[in-house]
Amino acid sequence: MYTVPQLTDFSGQALNAEKERLTDAVESEAAAVKDEAAQKLFRDRWMARKNGILTQVNDLWLKASPKEAKRDVGALVNDIKILVESTVDATALGLKPQSVTVSDRLDITLPGIRRPIGAEHPVLRTMNDVISVFRAMGYSVAEGPEVETDFYNFEALNFPPNHPARDTQDTLTIADQESKPLRERLLLRTHTSPVQIRTMEQQKPPVRIICPGKVHRRDTPDASHSPVFHQVEGLAVDTNITFSDLKGTLDHAMKALFGSAVKTRFFPSFFPFTEPSADVAISCIICGGKGCRTCKQTGWVELMGCGMVDPSVFDFVKDNGYDSTKISGFAFGMGVERLAMMKYGIDDIQLLFQGDVRFLQQESN
Ligand code: DAH
Repeated sequence: MYTVPQLTDFSGQALNAEKERLTDAVESEAAAVKDEAAQKLFRDRWMARKNGILTQVNDLWLKASPKEAKRDVGALVNDIKILVESTVDATALGLKPQSVTVSDRLDITLPGIRRPIGAEHPVLRTMNDVISVFRAMGYSVAEGPEVETDFYNFEALNFPPNHPARDTQDTLTIADQESKPLRERLLLRTHTSPVQIRTMEQQKPPVRIICPGKVHRRDTPDASHSPVFHQVEGLAVDTNITFSDLKGTLDHAMKALFGSAVKTRFFPSFFPFTEPSADVAISCIICGGKGCRTCKQTGWVELMGCGMVDPSVFDFVKDNGYDSTKISGFAFGMGVERLAMMKYGIDDIQLLFQGDVRFLQQESN
């Protein structure tokens, strides 16, 4: 450990040699400073007024020097002082985060750059709302492909080939499939109902699923039609499932989505894959059922199709435990855009797909 020697030789050569010894010492000690406690010891050892190394240098070298050497020794001691002080400061800086100096050209009172916050699209939000209502009732989410075979989209849902009900679906087909058997030909699914069969092939009863997804139909866009839209399908299969279960489930779901004042109404309809089938309307939430433009003065708005699963659908999966004499089920399918338009008072379905940021911002609050 470095100690300050008493000098007898005050020649320039001897002084420089001593300065070099001291410089080596302070630098190697500084390099060993790794924490605040060590830094404090280091500072005191070199800079303490009482008996610090600088004080000793002053006493033993400058004060003790003969008159004729004072000038040179004084300059040397001054250099040493600057060196030691800056070395001690540097060890302190190395430990603390450097203090930030705010340049006078940076005006910190200016507002920052605002990044626009993204939000769920109204269609996705509505779809997620429907999903949470059914999840709370114990349903899980299932998905299927958007490019589907004729078998899953039609045949297994009891639309036989050439059946007139196929015409109601305005199907978009994939080109150049004529060489394949009809049931293998690909098309863009016209509804989410094929996920019912796909799920029942994979999973034995009981089943409680909802299937959200995108569907396509050959429709000319207008205020209420879009060739691409979304549906949420539902399927419940178990022993003793009745039409009352279907009514209670959908009535609860509509109240959960639109408020407890909403009423539901079921009236007879037809779908090849359900028997009996029904369409479901809710009391118009715009006018409260009195009659307005949205409900075409009827007080009711039709929102979905539903029914009891037709035994001939179960027959396609009977080997997986779906014996229609032992089990029963209900199914439903709703259009998500329809729900979103009701919920947010949107009168043109095209607004949902044009991507106008002003519209999306308005709907995302
Ligand atoms: N898939 C039908 C459609 O797109 C909607 C539907 C009706 C689904 C009745 C169902 C159902 O599951 O039971 O028009």
